[in-house]
Amino acid sequence: MSKRILVTSALPYANGPIHLGHLAGAYLPSDFYTRYQRLRGRKILHICGSDEHGVPITIAAEKEGKTPQEIVDRFHERNKSVFRKFGISFDYYGRTSSEVHHKTSQEFFLNLHKKGVFKKKREEQLYDEKAEMFLPDRYVKGTCPVCGYEEAFGDQCEKCGSSLSPAELIDPLSMLSGDKPSLRETEHWYLPLGELQADLEKWLDNKSDWKPNVLGQCKSWLNEGLNDRAVTRDLKWGVPVPLEDAENKVLYVWFDAPIGYISATREWAESQGDPNAWREWWMNEDTDLIHFIGKDNIVFHCIMFPAMLMQHGDYILPKNVPANEFLNLEGRKLSTSRGWAVWLEEALERYEPDLLRYVLGSILPEAKDSDFSWRDFQSRINSELADILGNFIFRTLSFTDRYFDGKVPELVNATEKDKKALYAIKQTKVAAESAYERFRFREAIAETMNLARTGNRYFTEMEPWKSRKENSQKCANTLHVSLQISAALATLFTPVLPGKMKQLRDQLGMGEVAWDNVSDLMLKAGSSVRAGEILFAKIEDDQMEKELERLKGNVEAGQKDYEPQKKPIEYGEFAKLDIRAGRIEEAVAVEKSKKLIQLRVDIGYEKRTILAGVAGHYEPNKLVGMSVCVVANLKPKKMMGIESQGMVLMAEDREGQLCIVSTDAEPGSPIM
Ligand code: 2FM
Ligand code: ZN
Repeated sequence: MSKRILVTSALPYANGPIHLGHLAGAYLPSDFYTRYQRLRGRKILHICGSDEHGVPITIAAEKEGKTPQEIVDRFHERNKSVFRKFGISFDYYGRTSSEVHHKTSQEFFLNLHKKGVFKKKREEQLYDEKAEMFLPDRYVKGTCPVCGYEEAFGDQCEKCGSSLSPAELIDPLSMLSGDKPSLRETEHWYLPLGELQADLEKWLDNKSDWKPNVLGQCKSWLNEGLNDRAVTRDLKWGVPVPLEDAENKVLYVWFDAPIGYISATREWAESQGDPNAWREWWMNEDTDLIHFIGKDNIVFHCIMFPAMLMQHGDYILPKNVPANEFLNLEGRKLSTSRGWAVWLEEALERYEPDLLRYVLGSILPEAKDSDFSWRDFQSRINSELADILGNFIFRTLSFTDRYFDGKVPELVNATEKDKKALYAIKQTKVAAESAYERFRFREAIAETMNLARTGNRYFTEMEPWKSRKENSQKCANTLHVSLQISAALATLFTPVLPGKMKQLRDQLGMGEVAWDNVSDLMLKAGSSVRAGEILFAKIEDDQMEKELERLKGNVEAGQKDYEPQKKPIEYGEFAKLDIRAGRIEEAVAVEKSKKLIQLRVDIGYEKRTILAGVAGHYEPNKLVGMSVCVVANLKPKKMMGIESQGMVLMAEDREGQLCIVSTDAEPGSPIM
C-alpha cells in the first residue's frame, strides 16, 4: 500500500452551476472514497477547483455580454460554496485563472518545449472575417463527417461522440457571426501523440484493475490510432503561450486544465505554510494518484495528460481513473441548454444533502448510464432511509431511553441469534471495505444498508416489547446488540451520510470512530444514549409532483423547436413504400462502428439482415424481441462491408434521442 493517496475531481467549467449529473459523474464518488480513506486513517488529499479557460467560458461570456473574468468569478464562488453545502470535502478548491496556475502551466509547457517534444505546424484554420478571429473548438458548428448530424461542434459531435477538428466539419458556420468562415494560415504547437502511442499502450497494458468502461474507451482510441493534438489556440482568454513567436496565442484548455490539479496542490501547500509539500504528492512514487471524472473526460485523463506527464518526467502517473458513465434524468438525456437538469443549489433548498447523497450514491452510473427520477428518489428515501435505517435507530434509541433509563444494557449469555446479528457488523465492514477499495460505491451503500436491514429484522424478530415482561435479560441483550449495530452504522455510513451519522453519533454519545475500530463492542455497557429522534422524514407524493412540474416548466422555457414539416406529397408517392411489421431476432453491435447495430429481423415471409443506427440509444440485447416497422422494398445498401436489406423505422425526439417505432401486428403485416 502506498503512503499517500492524491485524489482529484474533474475541475468543473466555471460557466454554469452544478447539477446532479456532475455529482454522479465525479464529485460524489470522489467524496465517498476520500471520506472512507480518511476514516481508515490514510494520508489523503482531495483536490479540485474551477476550470476557467477555454471556449465554453468565452461563449458563455459573449452570450451574457460579460467579460470571461466576470463569468468565472461568479461561478467559481457559487460552485465552491454549493459543493461545501453538499458536504463535498475538498482539501483545496483552486482555480485556473490564478497566478500560481498560470506560472505552473507555463513552466510545464516550457519544459516540454525545451525537450523538443512539441511539433510546430503551419496550417490553414477556420477564420471569422467579421469577428476578426480564428474559430477553434466550439466556435464553429457544422455537419458531422462521421454521422451526418447537423449541429456538431468543432471539437466533438455530441450525437456520435466522434472527436473532431473544426476543419473536418461539413458546411461549417461561425458561432460568432453566423457566417461561413474562411481559411487562414496559422501556426501551432502539437503534442505528438502518434509517436507516443507505443509508450501509452505499454503503460495501459497492466491496468487490468481499471474499470472495463474506462479501458474499453482507451482501447478504442488506441485502435483508431492516436493523432497529434494541438496544445495551443489563437485566443485571447487563457494562459498565454510563454514564447516570443506566440503572440495572441494561449494554451489549449485541455493542456492547462489537468495541470490545474498540480497548481491547486501547490496553492494548498502554501496555505499549509509548507510551500514545498506539494512535491511529495506529485513527484513521489509512493503516492497513488486517482482521477475521478465523467466518461467524456476519459481520453484527456488516460491518454493526453499521462502523455504530458511522461514527457515531463518529474511526475507520477495516475494509478487509476475510475470514470463514471452518464446520469439520465427521468429517462431522458440530461441537457442544460434545454433546461432538462436538476440544479444542486435549488435541490438543496428543498432536501438535506444526505438524502441526495444517498439516492445518487445508490444509482451511480458506475458501469453504464443510469437514471435519476423523482419517484425513485422518494421511494428510496421512504422505504430505505426512513423505513429501514431511520426506523431501526429510532426504535432502538426510544426503547433504550424508555425501558433502560437511556443506558446501554449489558450482554449476558448471548444466544445464537444475538451472536449472528453482531457478526453481521464484521461481515459488513469487510464487504464495504472491499467495495470502497474497488470504487464500487453502489455496492458499498447496499452492503451498509443491509446491516441496517439485518438490525431492523433482528429487532422485530426478538420482540423486545414482549421479552421486556417475560425475560428481561433477553430484552436487554436485544437492545445491547441493536445499539452496537447502530454504533457500527454511525461509522460505516459516514462516507455517504456524513451529516446524519454525526447526528446519530451525538445521540449515541460517541465521537468519530476510525473505520478500523468498528467492532461489535463500540458502546460500553452502562454508557448513556439519548432518546430517539427522527433521522429521516418521509417524502409526500405531492412534493414529487411539484418536482416534475418544475422540471417540465424549465423545459418549456428552453424547448427546442419541432423539425419543420416536409413538403406535401401525393398518396401515390407514399404508397410506393412497402412497410411491414417485423420482429427482431438477433442484434449485435457492428465492429468498429459507433452507430450501427446489425439486426436479424423476421418479416413473416422471410428474414432480413438490417443495419440500424441506434448504437448509443439501445443496448443490442434490449432490441431482441422488439416488434418493429420495416421498410421492406428499400434497395439493399452496403455499410461497413455488410449489406443492409431494408430499414427499421425510428422516431427522433427533440433531444436527438432515437426511439424504435413498434407495432402490435404480426410479422409480415403490411403497414399502410
Ligand atoms: O469537462 C469538464 O467539465 C472539464 N472542465 C473538466 C476538466 S478536468 C481537468 F482536466 F481539469
Ligand atoms: Zn457525429
